[in-house]
Amino acid sequence: MILKYLALTSLIVLYSLMFIGGYVSSAGLGLTCPDWPLCPSGLFPTEQYLIEWTHRTVAATAGALIIATAVGCWFTKNSNKHIKLTGTLAGIFVVTQIALGALVIDLKLQALLVAIHLGIGILLFAMVLLTTLFAFRLGKTTIQTKL
Ligand code: HEM
Repeated sequence: MILKYLALTSLIVLYSLMFIGGYVSSAGLGLTCPDWPLCPSGLFPTEQYLIEWTHRTVAATAGALIIATAVGCWFTKNSNKHIKLTGTLAGIFVVTQIALGALVIDLKLQALLVAIHLGIGILLFAMVLLTTLFAFRLGKTTIQTKL
């Protein structure tokens, strides 16, 4: 069952992203890349934009993985309402979070927005964690039913 590995990969990438976000914030690098969606160096980073560029690139990767997981939750055989709920909420939170990231830059790290960015990040992590746990449980249920 591919869903559990997709969900687990999303979880690992998301955790790394939150780690990088914490570094961006505490190192005061939040405005080193003032444009959106690309840094002034374009598609590839220069040394100056490397950390912020990494945060955005990993965010795009996490976004794609989490949305793929949400779609998978709806199309996997014997998926249940719990995994559909957490997977869909994760999809909604990740889109919100990426849009909010753009706003955080646009409004020059406005304190309340940065706090909301962290808050939604935590909710997103909780949803992806639950989806991963549910996906592994679905795998087990299938085996038990077959026995
Ligand atoms: C799934 C997507 C994302 C997640 C989970 C995420 C998560 C985080 C986290 C946990 C922090 C640390 C917050 C803190 O310590 O207060 C952070 C900081 C930051 N994020 Fe994101 N982020 C995401 C996407 C983005 C995007 C797309 C941008 C847009 C450029 C962005 C811009 C920033 C900035 C500028 C900071 C530093 C804020 C500061 O200097 O205080 N984030 N992010």
